[in-house]
Amino acid sequence: MENKIKTIKTIGVLTSGGDAPGMNAAVRAVVRTALFNNINVKGIYKGFAGLLGSNMRNLFLRDVSGILGQGGTFLYSSRCPEFNSKEGVQRAKTACQKAGIDGLVVCGGDGSFRGARDLSEAGMPCIAIPCTIDNDIACTDYCIGYDTAVNTVVENIDRLRDTSESHDRCSVVEVMGRQCGDIALHAAINCGAVSVIMPEIPFDIERAVIAKMKTTLGTGKSHFIVIVAEGVTDKRNENGLKMDAFEFAKHIEEKTGVESRATIFGHIQRGGKPSARDRIVAAEMGHYAVELLLHGKGNRVVVRRNSKTSDLDIVKALEMTRNVNMKLVKVANEFSS
Ligand code: F6P
Repeated sequence: MENKIKTIKTIGVLTSGGDAPGMNAAVRAVVRTALFNNINVKGIYKGFAGLLGSNMRNLFLRDVSGILGQGGTFLYSSRCPEFNSKEGVQRAKTACQKAGIDGLVVCGGDGSFRGARDLSEAGMPCIAIPCTIDNDIACTDYCIGYDTAVNTVVENIDRLRDTSESHDRCSVVEVMGRQCGDIALHAAINCGAVSVIMPEIPFDIERAVIAKMKTTLGTGKSHFIVIVAEGVTDKRNENGLKMDAFEFAKHIEEKTGVESRATIFGHIQRGGKPSARDRIVAAEMGHYAVELLLHGKGNRVVVRRNSKTSDLDIVKALEMTRNVNMKLVKVANEFSS
């Protein structure tokens, strides 16, 4: 980063969208870095909705003590449809100005990034930090919260495996991920799932699940884990069947004769103590975000790319598209065949 330090007196910080473990660590990093540089920090409650309602207060060193290991977000979060209008964005800018905020750090997912982009375009410099368990933000290799969520999923699938094995059953597990199968894919490899179904890849249940299970039944395997990402459960398969996790389980049982049960992990995946990885990435990104503002930069996204922390233009970042890691898909498929 270049050396030009800008006179910034006060920054705001908010968490928005679905919460993610590590958000607290990111806010703490923002607060501690700002205070170290003699900058005031206003914590804005409940995301953009709180900004519109001027729901904020000054944060001091001790306000962020003891939160590193806590999941959720002590600033609370919300999804704010009002922010989709120009009027909402203008009101938010006015609220920032009234509070003396010179720059804003927004921790959240791609919806929150769009809010940060619009507010930046309206003249309030914003820095976005990727926080979402889905890991679905195209511009960055990593989003805060993802590692914790995958570990939660793996830990719980290990439990399911115990009972599946005891009963010679198939466990169909639905994990979060609306547009992105990263949680599903990583969990599948970590847990030795026979099959993983992701929203990015078209699937045929007969080939992807039934045929595979029948083959492995023939090699002596008698219990199975099938992982389905949330984003595929509302799609129709080639036979026109609507497949939620329960219907997957029913179909598998009918076609293979293996007793099957469905489990939907749901919001369990969003909570819990952030992992060491999420805390360290949060520390680095929070620190980086404040340095960007200090150097007079706004309208940027902090990213992890090729194992390095850097920043990108927020408009360009939002235009990027994500690719599935096909090598890992191959690994998952080959290990389970
Ligand atoms: O934050 C991402 C996510 O957890 C998705 O995986 C899921 O589809 C969605 O949020 C659930 O949103 P909500 O908590 O608003 O129901």
